[in-house]
Amino acid sequence: MAIQKVGVVGCGLMGSGITQVSAQAGFQTVVREVSSELVEKGLKGIEKNLARLVEKGTIPEQEKDAIRSRLKGVTSLDELKDCDVIVEAIIEKLPAKRELFSALDDLCPARTIFASNTSSLTITEIAAATRRPQRFVGLHFFNPVPVMKLVEVVRTIATDPAVFEEMVNFGAKLGKTPVRAHDSGGFIVNRLLVPYLLDAIRALEEGVGSVVDIDNSMKLGCGYPMGPFTLLDFVGLDTTLFIAQIMFEEYKEKRFAAPPLLKRMVLAGWHGKKSGRGFYDYADPANPKPMSV
Ligand code: CAA
Repeated sequence: MAIQKVGVVGCGLMGSGITQVSAQAGFQTVVREVSSELVEKGLKGIEKNLARLVEKGTIPEQEKDAIRSRLKGVTSLDELKDCDVIVEAIIEKLPAKRELFSALDDLCPARTIFASNTSSLTITEIAAATRRPQRFVGLHFFNPVPVMKLVEVVRTIATDPAVFEEMVNFGAKLGKTPVRAHDSGGFIVNRLLVPYLLDAIRALEEGVGSVVDIDNSMKLGCGYPMGPFTLLDFVGLDTTLFIAQIMFEEYKEKRFAAPPLLKRMVLAGWHGKKSGRGFYDYADPANPKPMSV
C-alpha cells in the first residue's frame, strides 16, 4: 500500500512536530485538534519553525509554501477517514486513547493503519479498543520532533509483520532513523533513559553534587547535549513521573521507582520548563537559576 495521506490527532508539542515532518516529507497531512484555537496554535508553531528553516537557508521560500499547502488543520475526526495512516498524539491517558481509536475504527476503512505516539502506555491495550490490532503499531517520536532523528516503531504480539515493516519504511520516509522495538514498558529509549534521569535525582538527594555540577558532568564528561536536570525540565517532571510509575508497575524494579523529591516537585506544581519552574527557575528564561537542595 502506498501511503499518501497521513492523519495526526493532537496538535500539541508532539503532534505539531509529527504534522510538520509528515508535510515536509511530502505527505498530504490532516491534523485534528478539539478546538479551532488549538488548531491555530499548533499550525502557528509549525509556521514559525518553517520560517526559521527559510531564514537559515535550509529550505527555499517556495518549499515552505509547498509544505504549507500539504497541511490541513481540522476539528472533526470525520476528516481523517480517508487517511492511509493515522498517528495519535493526544493526552497520555489510556481511556482517552482507547475512546479515540474506537471512534476512528468505526470511521476508517479496514486498510487504514493506526499508530500511537505514546511513550509509556501499552500499545496492545490501546489496540485492543479496535477491531484491527493487526494494523496497529507504536510510532514513538522524540522532542523536538523536527530535530530528533529517531522514531521507535513498536510492534505488539498482534501486529501483522507486513504492516510493521511498512511502518518502519514510513518512519524512514519521514526522515527519521527507525528502530524496531517490542511493546514492553518504555520501549528502548525510556527503558534506558528513565532510570538514568531518576538516578540523577537520587544523586542530588544524596548530595553527590549540585544541579549544575551534575548537569555539567554529563554534558561535558559524556557529551550529552543536555544534562539530566535540564532534560528533566525539558521533558516535564509530571511526564517523567507518569512514565516512571507505569514502568515501575510493569517491572517492579527499584530503578524505575520515582524518588521522593520528584514526587514532591510534581505535587508542588513544579513541572519543569513549561510551568516556569523545575530543577531550574525560568523566571528569567535566558538565565535559568538552579534549585539548591
Ligand atoms: N523545534 C524545531 N527545531 C528546534 C527546536 C524546536 N523545538 N529546538 C531547537 N531546534 C533546532 C534549532 O533551530 C537548531 O537548528 P540548526 O542547527 O539547523 O540551526 C537546532 O535545533 C539546535 O538548536 P539550538 O542551537 O537552539 O540548541 P541546542 O544545540 O542546545 O539543541 C536540542 C537543542 C536539539 C533540544 C538539544 O539540546 C538536544 O538534543 N537535547 C536533548 C533532547 C532530547 O534528549 N530529547 C528527547 C527527550 S525524551 C523524549 O522526547 C521521549 C519521551 O518519551 C519522554
